[in-house]
Amino acid sequence: MRPSRPPLLLALGLGAALLPGLALAGHNSSLAQLNTTLSGRLQTSIPLAHSCFSQPNGAACAALKKQLPSAYFRIGSYEGFQNLQGEACVADPADQCLLTEGSLAKPSPSARCNQGVLSRNFVEVTGPADVQAVLAYSRATGTPLSIKGSGHDYNMRSSRRGSLAIWTRGLRDTAFHPSFVADGCPPATHPRQAVTFGAGVTMTEAMTFAHAHNATFPAGSSATVGASGGWALNGGHSVLSPGFGLAADRVLQFAIVTPDGQHRIANACTNPSLFWALRGGGGGAFGVVLSSTHAAEPDGPVTSAIISFPGTPATLNPWISLLAEHAPAWTRAGWGGPSAANLSFLVNPFAAAAAESDLAPAIAFARAHGGAAAVQTYPSFFDYWAATINASSATPEPVSTALFATSRIVPESVFLNTSARAALVGALVATATDLGLATYFMADLPLRWAQSHPAAEADTALPAAWYSSVWHVVAYAQWDGGAPLAQRRGAVQLLRNATRILGRAAGPDACTYANEADPWLDDWAAQFWGDKYERLVQVKRSVDPDGLLSCWHCVGWDASLPGYECVEGLAV
Ligand SMILES: *[C@@H]1O[C@H](CO)[C@@H](O)[C@H](O)[C@H]1NC(C)=O
Ligand SMILES: *[C@@H]1O[C@H](CO)[C@@H](O)[C@H](O)[C@H]1NC(C)=O
Ligand SMILES: *[C@@H]1O[C@H](CO)[C@@H](O)[C@H](O)[C@H]1NC(C)=O
Ligand SMILES: *[C@@H]1O[C@H](CO)[C@@H](O)[C@H](O)[C@H]1NC(C)=O
Ligand SMILES: *[C@@H]1O[C@H](CO)[C@@H](O)[C@H](O)[C@H]1NC(C)=O
Ligand SMILES: *[C@@H]1O[C@H](CO)[C@@H](O)[C@H](O)[C@H]1NC(C)=O
Ligand SMILES: *[C@@H]1O[C@H](CO)[C@@H](O)[C@H](O)[C@H]1NC(C)=O
Repeated sequence: MRPSRPPLLLALGLGAALLPGLALAGHNSSLAQLNTTLSGRLQTSIPLAHSCFSQPNGAACAALKKQLPSAYFRIGSYEGFQNLQGEACVADPADQCLLTEGSLAKPSPSARCNQGVLSRNFVEVTGPADVQAVLAYSRATGTPLSIKGSGHDYNMRSSRRGSLAIWTRGLRDTAFHPSFVADGCPPATHPRQAVTFGAGVTMTEAMTFAHAHNATFPAGSSATVGASGGWALNGGHSVLSPGFGLAADRVLQFAIVTPDGQHRIANACTNPSLFWALRGGGGGAFGVVLSSTHAAEPDGPVTSAIISFPGTPATLNPWISLLAEHAPAWTRAGWGGPSAANLSFLVNPFAAAAAESDLAPAIAFARAHGGAAAVQTYPSFFDYWAATINASSATPEPVSTALFATSRIVPESVFLNTSARAALVGALVATATDLGLATYFMADLPLRWAQSHPAAEADTALPAAWYSSVWHVVAYAQWDGGAPLAQRRGAVQLLRNATRILGRAAGPDACTYANEADPWLDDWAAQFWGDKYERLVQVKRSVDPDGLLSCWHCVGWDASLPGYECVEGLAV
């Protein structure tokens, strides 16, 4: 299982990108010294599937095949990525170490176990001192860094070829605060019930912890994604966001080590500019977040409505038209969740929710087309989540699939204008049928919440469209690990076409969610941050004067940075 790198560099555990750094002499400038500083905790990564290449019939391979389809298993290793683009070089089908989908066999007898974009070395950090040591090493040697938590990142921001990886999954402290006042804020500050999660705490762990204190954490829907990482830092949507806001709206404090080596607290009273930047400005640019503290709602009943029917090509346009017509009113009533070609999966945390009457047109449509609506009240969001969202995410995960998204956040004005709305529906139908992509329209934006929080937009680094929009529309393209380059390029072309089709229909006031973005956007900074980008770059310079941190299409990224060849190589 040896990657195709020169033997000398391999022996040193270094990628080609590190060569300039080797010339620098001095303290903290060798990996061995870094390892000593870290008490021997510098680790070497080995692709998860390596044993199935070296000993296909061995016990290690057999054990791996049993566990590989579980996302919970994968988050237990630095090398475990939910989508293959985190570990494989998508632009070079030979540079990966993957088993095939379904049969869990090697893709072809000649396939090798290569390193892909996995970092050669990684550190499972245990606290600020570990992060400071890695940053000092990077500063002394020019070694690029990457930061990985758990769960997935469609845009590969937790990987960088040739980087030394910081892995935060080990940071799993939790704390409950009956009345939290952010550090450095005046005592008169209104205290909030809050929860603190270390950077390695996943959604499932965060929700379970909050619920044990009779509190609700408005989590994202992917059980294995971290509650303090890229999800929260890029906005952090939840099916509860219509009523309760985004993670970026609800976060009260971060603990972070910034690239200048400082261990800082960032909140509204301490380092407020950095706090603002971390509320939507993205992960991987401003430092290594160690923990985040979020306002928690008291647990209370939620109403769920699962509406579905056997869709046909003929029902597609009328169904989406119906949903689009009512979406503004439903969002304003607090209904959130995904919808697609033949289903709508909505939940509402407010007592006034009355599914049968609020959602009557959708329920009638489903029943008229041989479908049904299941309406149920759960004692808490946790109970709802465990029974529905987590139940579906507990099903086996693809073992080697590249999954890429493209998305637009669509303003309410589009929904209120009949011709613009018809064009949006037409675009969604085209994405699903002409392009054949899995297409969803999610009610997970803080429109209702923003009505009672007029400062919301100014408080975060997210562009205004987040607070005036109704749907986050998403389409996905994918391929299996065994797909040849031409097939990969074809899928990227479909995704890019969807970007254009959805972009036109969403209109000039829309924006894009950085976590579910087409990775090949030219105007990514404008789409993710609009006119807030310049201020984000200033904050980035203030905490990262040497430019130690970067990730794909993150604040401060530029095309001259090495380590992104595998994603760049698939641009069409
Ligand atoms: C770091 O040191 C430990 C203990 O000496 C050793 O086992 C480990 O292999 C070293 N890591 C690397 C990447 O060399
Ligand atoms: C190496 O870095 C660590 C962490 O920043 C620091 O504590 C230590 O003093 C440094 N060692 C040398 C020899 O500079
Ligand atoms: C949560 O609420 C239940 C039911 O009201 C109560 O029995 C339990 O003590 C509460 N738990 C905590 C940690 O407050
Ligand atoms: C909805 O469509 C999907 C895929 O097109 C299909 O697998 C599923 O069975 C349909 N659901 C219902 C309730 O018909
Ligand atoms: C979610 O599912 C996983 C796997 O089945 C389980 O370990 C976990 O406890 C579940 N979490 C919740 C909140 O239901
Ligand atoms: C409605 O949308 C169409 C584009 O579909 C646009 O030409 C028209 O100006 C819009 N009307 C208003 C009142 O904004
Ligand atoms: C995607 O767009 C390209 C370039 O505009 C076009 O040539 C191609 O036919 C489109 N493919 C599909 C499936 O729409």
